[in-house]
Amino acid sequence: MQIKVYLTEDEMPRQWYNLAADLPSPMQPPLGPDGKPISPDMLAPVFPMNIIEQEVSQERWIDIPEPVLEILARWRPSPLHRAYSLEKALDTPAEIYYKNESLSPPGSHKPNTAVPQAYYNKVFGIKRITTETGAGQWGSALAFACALFGLECKVYMVRISFDQKPFRKIMMQTWGANCVASPSTETKAGRDVLAKHPDTPGSLGIAISEAVEAAVTDSTGKSRYALGSVLNHVMLHQTIIGLETKKQFAKIGVKKPDIVIACAGGGSNFAGLSFPFLTDKIAGANIEVVAVEPSSCPTMTRGPFVYDHGDTAKMTPLLPMHSLGHDFVPPPIHAGGLRYHGMAPLVSQAIVEGLVKPRAIGQLECYAAAVLFARTEGIIPAPETSHAIAAAVQEAKKAKEEGKKKVILFNFSGHGLMDLAGYDNYLQGKLRDYPLPDSEFGPSLRELDKLPKPKAVKTGKW
Ligand SMILES: Cc1ncc(COP(=O)(O)O)c(C=O)c1O
Repeated sequence: MQIKVYLTEDEMPRQWYNLAADLPSPMQPPLGPDGKPISPDMLAPVFPMNIIEQEVSQERWIDIPEPVLEILARWRPSPLHRAYSLEKALDTPAEIYYKNESLSPPGSHKPNTAVPQAYYNKVFGIKRITTETGAGQWGSALAFACALFGLECKVYMVRISFDQKPFRKIMMQTWGANCVASPSTETKAGRDVLAKHPDTPGSLGIAISEAVEAAVTDSTGKSRYALGSVLNHVMLHQTIIGLETKKQFAKIGVKKPDIVIACAGGGSNFAGLSFPFLTDKIAGANIEVVAVEPSSCPTMTRGPFVYDHGDTAKMTPLLPMHSLGHDFVPPPIHAGGLRYHGMAPLVSQAIVEGLVKPRAIGQLECYAAAVLFARTEGIIPAPETSHAIAAAVQEAKKAKEEGKKKVILFNFSGHGLMDLAGYDNYLQGKLRDYPLPDSEFGPSLRELDKLPKPKAVKTGKW
């Protein structure tokens, strides 16, 4: 009985995989304020040019720089686990595997992109990086990476998570970063929101506006902004997860998974695990690929495919994506990393194409699955990760009903040891589901009527 599959450091992938090279239907370009496609140099005040080149790259394989590999090797390759105890508890004929991304120093998949982003900024001569964070996993990952490369780091943390997860701030400070609650009074974007809504729980969209503003208004020109999800280069950096998993399956003779599952906030851990399998699906393999979101922030399942800004203050270009509208402020659930109005354009296009099936699950079912996982497999999951576990449990039960021996794979994107307040509320019966009435995002969607519309192009094969 093999519980974990390891790879040696030598077996760690040396290249990232770019799905943009293989998508059967083309991506629509990001647009500037005039409605015309933006050119790479228009992004130069926000990101260093070496990252912009990756953002627009159509190359299938991109080399991982040696200094990045050296840092990733501190916790990578991450183990692939067989969840025997969970299978037993569910009495399912399915085999359940999970890729354990919780073993990085900050506790999630986020350093897979924080490390290369800090590296590319460093070699470009940048001294300070600004960013947003929801649950705090991304902010602490960037703080960790900046510490290793000797960069300053400023984090705008969504107010509700700042209050729910105070230890995340202390982690960021320990790695030398400066973390403030968003909306803050430090930026015009933050002050504008506070003037209208002084008690707002905040949102990732607002925090992104603050972080972008802080980078582009730095008169030294040595600040840039980093995003923990959504953009193409972030999806790219995360593909090391799925590439390792494929090698691990090969080691134990699993030809392919039947179902690949991950939660999706901005889409990065989902892309990381699933994109290397999507290439097989595009080539004809029968693999179901499921992206899971909270029913309280149903971007993929109820948000239309539109052009929208990535942030509330409309500082980012217009991205072709599923969105609930940049003004939408999601209910204050504990899965802070899933409280985002939009979705990665690459993931959105894969949904439009039919390659990816989105699914929304309520937080009570997710916490129940997380507690079952903790009591069987032993690890306490991040509230975001619990969405992937809940979908894996649904699939394992379905396999039992159908009497099928399916191979289910999900991404264990992070541990929840900094998220215990949410567990406390759940265990005391204080949590409830927030299925979102249409009226709550109708106004933010109507805002998008004035914007250009992307074409929903698909081949119709899936
Ligand atoms: C543990 C964990 N999983 C998932 C997510 C969702 O982000 P993404 O969709 O970019 O993977 C987050 C975001 O903060 C996270 O912290």
